[in-house]
Amino acid sequence: MKVLITGGAGFIGSNLIEKLAEKNEVIVIDNLSGGRKEFIEPFLDKIKFYKVDLLNNVNDYFSGVEEVWHLAADPSVKDSSIQTFFRDLEITKNVLEACRKNKVKRILFTSSSTVYGESELNTPENCETKPISFYGGTKLSCESLISNYCSLYKIQGFLFRFANIIGKNSTHGVIYDFIGKLSKNKEELKILGDGKQTKSYLSVSDCINGMLIARDKAKEKINIFNLGSRDKTNVKEIAEIVVEEMISSLQKKPKFKFTGGVDNGKGWKGDVKEMLLDISKLQKLGFTPKNSSKEAVREAVRETINSYQL
Ligand SMILES: NC(=O)c1ccc[n+]([C@@H]2O[C@H](COP(=O)([O-])OP(=O)(O)OC[C@H]3O[C@@H](n4cnc5c(N)ncnc54)[C@H](O)[C@@H]3O)[C@@H](O)[C@H]2O)c1
Repeated sequence: MKVLITGGAGFIGSNLIEKLAEKNEVIVIDNLSGGRKEFIEPFLDKIKFYKVDLLNNVNDYFSGVEEVWHLAADPSVKDSSIQTFFRDLEITKNVLEACRKNKVKRILFTSSSTVYGESELNTPENCETKPISFYGGTKLSCESLISNYCSLYKIQGFLFRFANIIGKNSTHGVIYDFIGKLSKNKEELKILGDGKQTKSYLSVSDCINGMLIARDKAKEKINIFNLGSRDKTNVKEIAEIVVEEMISSLQKKPKFKFTGGVDNGKGWKGDVKEMLLDISKLQKLGFTPKNSSKEAVREAVRETINSYQL
């Protein structure tokens, strides 16, 4: 099967290529704004890579493609703005137009738990969506547009609402931030908020496994799935794991300096302080995350320390 991945040179995309290139003809489109060529270098003899900005017309690249994995976006909740909102919506519109014109059968979209805003914990997929950040807003708008296209044209849609995804090739998020800060200053670690922000963390391998199970087993025209681990951990616990794993280079435990944050200890305005998703819908199809949140964090910390010259 011919599959196309937008944002394939990024963190999740490069892990996805590894899996999809085993059995498929893979096309990757990425403008390398956040992604890195080195992540896809091991696959360049197996895939077709185009350094293209999806803000342009991309119809020709979709010729003969059956399945599109749409990952390209600005992944930062903290830095999201009205500009990133419309930019990522525009990208999604261009991807959907290319799907329509080339009769693509299936689109799989990486959405986020942020569409729920500050909803009840153990959030099910049918919970009300009330995003509190531009990032959550744009994900929900992209979901709506995808749903429109799937209903009007013969496309099957998968909308995956991710918890925090972590692991090999990650270039952003709390783990990357802490390791980077500690490699520059061994004495003190600045932690945004009060350190009690408590969320679900999922290993990227579990994330990809979950999406593939959904793709292979779910039959609805539009399929919405939460994807997270079964528990959560907090930012201070993550800082402690990072320090434990880096202790040989740090020599002694650094001082934690909490910024205090905004709105009762959040890292930034628009942050959701607690997040845990109900993943039973995907579990019923056979999905079981191999790691707890803390195990996923420790594994990701080790991979990040090993893979980067920070
Ligand atoms: N990492 C997480 O915890 C998480 C959680 C929820 C949702 N997501 C979503 O998953 C997707 C992948 O996230 P990631 O963590 O791998 O981020 P990433 O930044 O590593 O990957 C995104 C990729 O999209 C590319 N891109 C961005 N704008 C583009 C454009 N205009 N044209 C072409 N390419 C463009 C970037 O270069 C990058 O390689 C994103 O949609 C993100 O919002 C991620």
